[in-house]
Amino acid sequence: MQGAALDAAGALAQDATDPLAGFAAQFHHPYDAAGRRSVYLCGHSLGLQPKSAAQYVESELADWRRLGVLGHHEAARPWIGYHEHLTQPLAALVGAGTREVVAMNSLTVNLHLMMVSFFRPDGLRNKVLIEKSAFPSDRHAVASQLALHGLNAAEHLIEIEPRRGERTLRTADIIGGIEQESDRLALVLLPGVQYLTGQSLNLLPLIAAARRIGAAVGLDLAHSIGNTLLQLHDWDADFAVWCSYKYLNAGPGAIGGCFVHERHARRTDLPRLTGWWGHDKATRFLMGPEFRPIAGAEGWQISNPPVLSTAPLLASLEIFQRAGMQRLRHKSIALTGFLQGLIENRLRGQVDIVTPSSADERGAQLSLKILRPAAQAKRCHERLNTAGVVSDWREPDVLRLTPVPLYNSFGDVFAAVEALAQALCP
Ligand SMILES: Cc1ncc(COP(=O)(O)O)c(C=O)c1O
Repeated sequence: MQGAALDAAGALAQDATDPLAGFAAQFHHPYDAAGRRSVYLCGHSLGLQPKSAAQYVESELADWRRLGVLGHHEAARPWIGYHEHLTQPLAALVGAGTREVVAMNSLTVNLHLMMVSFFRPDGLRNKVLIEKSAFPSDRHAVASQLALHGLNAAEHLIEIEPRRGERTLRTADIIGGIEQESDRLALVLLPGVQYLTGQSLNLLPLIAAARRIGAAVGLDLAHSIGNTLLQLHDWDADFAVWCSYKYLNAGPGAIGGCFVHERHARRTDLPRLTGWWGHDKATRFLMGPEFRPIAGAEGWQISNPPVLSTAPLLASLEIFQRAGMQRLRHKSIALTGFLQGLIENRLRGQVDIVTPSSADERGAQLSLKILRPAAQAKRCHERLNTAGVVSDWREPDVLRLTPVPLYNSFGDVFAAVEALAQALCP
């Protein structure tokens, strides 16, 4: 795929030799009002629906119709342990042991649950470090956790930002910020891939720096899981949380997930918000009053899982297993590289790419800044959507385009850049 021509023929040639090309047909691609198939480059926001998702949901609806409550034990996939079918494929995607991951709740809820356990301010060690452009929900969650401890964001929230005139963060600057606060930091919370800029942080040295100064480390992997290669166990973060409606294609509001490092698997000294689903499976239905957590991430569950919104994730993870994350990432690098090449070739001087140019520092997404006054730039984006390229706009000035290796082709990327070139015409 390397060095392909930056034109329609180059796109065709790459699609012809793409070993993953067949997977696009396993997804429903949206159509516009005129009945034309959209070029969908918005998987960073909501992934497309796997065609198999309906069967997986229908299978649970059928078992519910047929069995009622007996489905908890007698459904084809008994509901009592339904979420366990997700454990192995999720562990493989994030590079963790099976005891370290669980599908549950949604991202921000999981972030709160994790902070209850891992944000333990103690004397002067009472601050949280995040990045300045963190997704607002993360900031709200952190600020409210600070407030629960009688602390406040103005004094206890450290926000790292890019250098003046730069859009993305430097690893050395984040490490500098961590070391500067040192034993005043109780928690470092970082994204894998930053939602606005598409920058993929070099997590290993960042996690190491935080652990060196004695802070707990958590990760928001909303834009990383199913996108970049992750090794959470070896990287040694304390916890990570994610959603599954973006690159994992599990549908709007689908069940989220959580990683808790093995070293915490049996800790009963940590405070946690508990519920019956986190209790020891062998004695859960004896309905006793005491709480004995399941060892590992499952011990942080509270409620029984929402089977109907979990079923599409199972469908999608089965596709991931067949495609293979290594092969997907390999294609993703080529696909996003092709997008970058076309933009640089065709739209030079009209559009800046905000996302780092090296494949190691990004996932599938490219964030673009249209070099026009704000209102005009936004109109260009609207024209792009009207032309059938589904992308999104994030205030104040970012257009996000994401070719997803499971269901986008090099032809999609070529068509999108052609449409963007038209949309930029005044
Ligand atoms: C980076 C990031 N963090 C957190 C969230 C919030 O996710 P949820 O609504 O599932 O809690 C999102 C949602 O898009 C996100 O992109």
